[in-house]
Amino acid sequence: MTADLIGLVTDTFGDLVGRDPEGVWSAPGRVNLIGEHTDYNAGLCLPIALPQRTYVAAGARSDGRLRVTSITPGRRPSHAEVALTEISREHPGSWGGYVAGVLWALLAEGYAVGGLDLVLTSAVPVGAGLSSSAALTCSVAAAASDVYRLGLLDTDEGRRVLIAATIRAENEIAGAPTGGMDQTAALLSRPGHALRLDFRSGEVTPVPVDLSSAGMVLLVCDTRASHALNDGQYAERRSSCERAAATLGVPSLRELSVADLPRVERELDQVDARRVRHVVTEIHRVDACIQSLRDGDMEEAGRLFVASHESLRDDYEVSCAELDAVVEEAVAAGAPGARMTGGGFGGSAIALVPVDEVDVVTSAIETRFSREGWNEPHCFTATPGSAAYRDV
Ligand code: GLA
Repeated sequence: MTADLIGLVTDTFGDLVGRDPEGVWSAPGRVNLIGEHTDYNAGLCLPIALPQRTYVAAGARSDGRLRVTSITPGRRPSHAEVALTEISREHPGSWGGYVAGVLWALLAEGYAVGGLDLVLTSAVPVGAGLSSSAALTCSVAAAASDVYRLGLLDTDEGRRVLIAATIRAENEIAGAPTGGMDQTAALLSRPGHALRLDFRSGEVTPVPVDLSSAGMVLLVCDTRASHALNDGQYAERRSSCERAAATLGVPSLRELSVADLPRVERELDQVDARRVRHVVTEIHRVDACIQSLRDGDMEEAGRLFVASHESLRDDYEVSCAELDAVVEEAVAAGAPGARMTGGGFGGSAIALVPVDEVDVVTSAIETRFSREGWNEPHCFTATPGSAAYRDV
């Protein structure tokens, strides 16, 4: 699979550009184990990199232009082109904005990147809540850094510069006000580990994730229900949190604890109070979940997954019928826990599943989806993969 995709972008680059690429770079999608909608509240989260990656073949251009082609086997290629000096919210727009935005942000930060030819393809499903956008921006950032000899991939400090640039690309050019978890996972993850991300201190702590010695696997289930982060709902949740923090007189919701919730309920309207309750309790669940993973206590980890899902469903209101159904069916079929992952409003859910029960759980989910007349879900197991790197 990996070799096929590397071959595909390399060969297509040769056909379109008329020379070999200088290399191929890739970055992973992610699932978040727990800690949802907490990154933009200076909170905690716990993502892992997926084995599925976005691959980009790259070469320098001397005319200061970006020319990028995206290929999906079986579909017509899609092209975008823009002069680096003309990159904006409108140019080149659409998916090309994610790519161009990275170069724009690196230039804005004073890094000397120039024109690029890029050909890319992705094994991360788009719109599945698995962070295909960060896989895209981070693979491009990795390529741009190496092609223009910035050396930013070589150290954690350099990778943090790329994280900041990819966040700016999404926020300021692509128009998706995302919080930073996805880009950090794509650039700093380690195989076999989740990352405990603390968005107040900036600390990144690898946490070993060894489900197999507890007889478990992580099942990811893409509901194939629609999901888009730039459609307003995500931004609306974000402003609700900012408004609540301002009313409560704190720099971020991270400063609140469970003991503050009665005051929150007195001082805020009901909807904002529920949003805050989600964020505060969810941040608390992250370290509890890390402890249960360290103890190998899968029942407790599963209980925390379900509590997280219920909070996202009832208090934060970012779930949907398909995500709720995955959680219900997985738990009823023997999973200790399951929850939606990522931004919500569609996308994917994850479940902790005993290794012998994967088929039973998967078929319970598929049966339910077929009975409801929904798109066929796509379920697969995942182990924590690697951050962005140069493939060849
Ligand atoms: C999306 C965003 C992240 C994060 C999650 C919710 O994936 O890109 O920054 O806010 O939603 O946890």
